[in-house]
Amino acid sequence: MHSRCGAPTLAMTKKAILSWVHCLCPVCLEVFMEPVTLPCTHTFCKVCFLESVDKATLCCPMCRKRVSTWARLHSRNNTLVNETLWRRIQTCFPRQCEHRLSGQGEAEDPHSGNGSRGR
Ligand SMILES: *[C@@H]1O[C@H](CO)[C@@H](O)[C@H](O)[C@H]1NC(C)=O
Ligand SMILES: *[C@@H]1O[C@H](CO)[C@@H](O)[C@H](O)[C@H]1NC(C)=O
Ligand SMILES: *[C@@H]1O[C@H](CO)[C@@H](O)[C@H](O)[C@H]1NC(C)=O
Repeated sequence: MHSRCGAPTLAMTKKAILSWVHCLCPVCLEVFMEPVTLPCTHTFCKVCFLESVDKATLCCPMCRKRVSTWARLHSRNNTLVNETLWRRIQTCFPRQCEHRLSGQGEAEDPHSGNGSRGR
């Protein structure tokens, strides 16, 4: 059987779209990279969380719940990232992950290059 998720393609099923949507970061609107799931159950890419979290008070960017204690403890032992979800995303959306982890933007330009540039 196929996994429940998949990259967005023309052949996308409703189920795939659903799981795709659930793997999108509310900050950058892309698939989670190193997802951080807060105690309030909101999830963000690690970089998005670190960038958008209120530095002074450490509140969730979505619901403003304070996550300072949680964030401090989990940064200390390096367990901010929701590894379970992260592994699932890497399995389901390998191309998106590779793209974002390597290129951070520029890598995708189908109108030029013909695969001879970069990589
Ligand atoms: C990781 O993410 C999954 C899916 O969103 C969630 O069900 C689970 O509770 C999260 N785990 C932790 C430790 O936050
Ligand atoms: C890291 O710290 C958190 C909060 O104290 C704890 O829940 C978690 O189990 C710890 N993880 C590891 C791997 O020590
Ligand atoms: C890519 O290369 C092929 C074969 O060399 C060529 O026919 C095609 O026009 C090229 N496409 C682009 C976008 O450059």
